[in-house]
Amino acid sequence: MAALAGSYSMPLIGVSIFIAALTYTTYKLLSSYVHKWFQMKPIPGLEGTYPFIGNALQFETNAGDFFKQIVGYTTEYSNAPLLKFWLGTLPFLVLFHAETVEHWAKVASAEKDADSHLPLLHPDGLLGGDERAERDPGGEAKQDGREGMSDIISRRQRTPWFWFGFVYNYFGEGREHDKILKILHSFTYNGTKKRRAFLDMLLKATYEDGNKMTHQDIQEEVDTFMFEGHDTTAAAMNWVLHLLGSHPEAQSKVQQELQEVFGTSDRPVNTEDLKKLRYLDCVIKEALRLFPSVPFFGRNLGEDCHINGFKVPKGANAVVVTYALHRDPRYFPDPEEFRPERFLPENSTGRPPYAYVPFSAGLRNCIGQRFAMMEEKVVLSTILRNFNVEACQTREELRPLGELILRPEKGIWIKLEKRLHKD
Ligand code: HEM
Repeated sequence: MAALAGSYSMPLIGVSIFIAALTYTTYKLLSSYVHKWFQMKPIPGLEGTYPFIGNALQFETNAGDFFKQIVGYTTEYSNAPLLKFWLGTLPFLVLFHAETVEHWAKVASAEKDADSHLPLLHPDGLLGGDERAERDPGGEAKQDGREGMSDIISRRQRTPWFWFGFVYNYFGEGREHDKILKILHSFTYNGTKKRRAFLDMLLKATYEDGNKMTHQDIQEEVDTFMFEGHDTTAAAMNWVLHLLGSHPEAQSKVQQELQEVFGTSDRPVNTEDLKKLRYLDCVIKEALRLFPSVPFFGRNLGEDCHINGFKVPKGANAVVVTYALHRDPRYFPDPEEFRPERFLPENSTGRPPYAYVPFSAGLRNCIGQRFAMMEEKVVLSTILRNFNVEACQTREELRPLGELILRPEKGIWIKLEKRLHKD
């Protein structure tokens, strides 16, 4: 009998420890959820919030409709001091006023929102389907041409039950995600082979505690640079061409400036020229105001704080919706109008710095913003020195999709006409 009890006691102890640990973890999670729920109760929130599910059921699953929905909420609640919604048990604040973004920039931790909870926002890939198709001509990752990794990631972000790796892999798009990720990694791997200097720098880099970066750390850094720096600038230039193509007067002003700097010469552009292209600079900034390449980004709040008078507990996520922020009529009168002159120094005085943050703000803002502006000026000045641009779509036809990068649903179509006389 004693021997029998002995042979059962080890598994029993194991099961008891497991149940105790599970109970403790569940209790901790529940009490943190309830605590946040009550602390954030005074903050205005979306209607139809259910315990544990939050507002997840009311969000559109299609990326275009979801983006429209979020922008719709910012209009509906434009006078609210702050706006909150719940995705499962995670609270989110939506920030789209300069005053609240300023608070956010001061308290947001260096962690991106999802990094702190789940593997959602890895820079695993912002490539759209078209680009993917180019690198995957055999259609190895079989998908509709326009469904890219960014779509997969943004869909997962909106569906809390897929945040758990196991559920996502078995019932969601986990396998498709991994398949595309492999293709993207092979792309960055090949790119890295060609860019030895960058790779050498990363290999020599160490953390503050003296540890070297792992292979995965290096891969993630390369991914971030490749994709944060590639898709964002490409999207931004697309929007500029559309806007100039539908505002001939602004296009003439750019070309006049180009004439003053380059005359009729075909010489390549240099850094001195870039400094002189002030109107083009305003055009790019205004395009990034109307169509910010990153239409929203999130951070985990690293400490308890007050935002606009509301107490917000540590661990809440704050999402800055630049697309809405940049349309605040207090700082950008007639916000839908394309007016590059808004960014001339004399017209920018008095505008709060956090009313316009296409490159984010605070910790972990865009490391490549100066480079991005230079890159855009080089490419756009070269195009506009040689061609006149005409837009083939109206603004209404473009239907922006706010995935991780803001792009028009069906791409941007323009006509290029060779310039014979550059005067
Ligand atoms: C118009 C072009 C660009 C725009 C609008 C833009 C915008 C942004 C934004 C909003 C963030 C913060 C994203 C977040 O918090 O989730 C970001 C981060 C970042 N960007 Fe850019 N970006 C542009 C171009 C570039 C370029 C050309 C590079 C590199 C050469 C670059 C490198 C990065 C990196 C490495 C980060 C991550 C910084 C960190 O997490 O510490 N970006 N960018």
